[in-house]
Amino acid sequence: PYNWYRQMRETQPMYFDPQMQGWHIFSYGDVARVLSDHATFSSDESTFLPPEYRNATPISSSLLRMDPPRHRKLRNIVSQAFTPRMVAQMEARIQTITNGLLDQIVAKGEMDVIRDLAIPLPITVIAELMGIPAERRADFKQWSDALVSGGGETTAEAAQATMQTIRQATDSITTYFTQILEERRAQPQNDLLSALLQAEVDGERLSSEELVGFCVLLLVAGNETTTNLIGNTILCLDEHPEAMEQLRAKRELVPGALEEVLRYYSPIKLTIRGTTTETTIGEQHIAAGQVLLVWIASADRDEAEFPHADQFIIEREPNRHLGFGRGIHFCLGAPLARLEARIALNTMLDRLPGSWHVPDAPLSPIESMSVFGVKNLPLTWQ
Ligand code: HEM
Repeated sequence: PYNWYRQMRETQPMYFDPQMQGWHIFSYGDVARVLSDHATFSSDESTFLPPEYRNATPISSSLLRMDPPRHRKLRNIVSQAFTPRMVAQMEARIQTITNGLLDQIVAKGEMDVIRDLAIPLPITVIAELMGIPAERRADFKQWSDALVSGGGETTAEAAQATMQTIRQATDSITTYFTQILEERRAQPQNDLLSALLQAEVDGERLSSEELVGFCVLLLVAGNETTTNLIGNTILCLDEHPEAMEQLRAKRELVPGALEEVLRYYSPIKLTIRGTTTETTIGEQHIAAGQVLLVWIASADRDEAEFPHADQFIIEREPNRHLGFGRGIHFCLGAPLARLEARIALNTMLDRLPGSWHVPDAPLSPIESMSVFGVKNLPLTWQ
């Protein structure tokens, strides 16, 4: 997609797409501005989805799709679980889980990075954090995949098929979490779910839709994206052997390298907003009630913000990428995602010696308008 983004930034940085009935936004300045101004650019689905597509998944009832003041109140409750301090306390546990996953493959000399590490690590971590059994992680994965599937269908039949897949996953996931939440209500424990059940906003408990919405948001937002950050990191290092050498020689560069992956191959390509009033973006006048397709992945390759934007430079400074968003919806899980990716990469560097090799066979990209990653990533070493 990166060639298309460049072409659009150069020729039509704001473009009305008659098929999508929305404005594509490609430049760093415009994307950053839209994400920063939540009053003009709403995250509420009613501002950007036709009625028949609203409330399709539990994520519709989550804070990702809310505006203030309710957004702020809900975010306050859950942000207590994600303070950098709380996350830092999980470091030892994440290391143990990573070691356990790698123990099984180190002797083999080959692995599939996605299947063997990038999928199971975040799922196991978030399940423990939420206090749900990790045994059903195959189901979690399938539900998450279904919920982010689709986008850009060209026929009504294809769009209907996607909606059907999404509906089925929604039913299963709602049943699952409703039951877990009932168990917790009867028997509170020291975990995130019990805390959410007890939380009050304006003197009232969260509705069951909001509770399920939050669980699903964590499961989907937290898994798919972290999986792809880990996978995309290995892709970047395979494509840039000089960066790999730098990292082997100097491990302090790992955190900066991960920020560069978030910029260069952002796991989330796109987010959506709707205009609440008429406004101008750049020189373009936009009416109220318009849909905006906000291309994070394009903004992060904009030369106006990033010199040599198409080069992968692990010591890039400054690196104000938008991979975790910006403004009031800035990713709540960013400290956790950074920690998991850092441990995954460092442990791979420790335990998989010599040079790494990704076979030349073409890799299959995930088919989604908003997610960037590969389905499988075979790797051999030495
Ligand atoms: C929001 C990216 C990992 C939880 C966001 C947004 C982005 C993002 C771009 C903003 C969306 C928007 O403004 O429309 C990522 C990436 C990740 C990652 C690239 C991994 C590399 C996680 C993890 C969790 C998480 C691990 C939790 C366990 C959330 C939540 C929100 C969010 C709850 C909504 C915050 C709000 O609306 O206030 N994420 N995320 N994310 N993310 Fe992440």
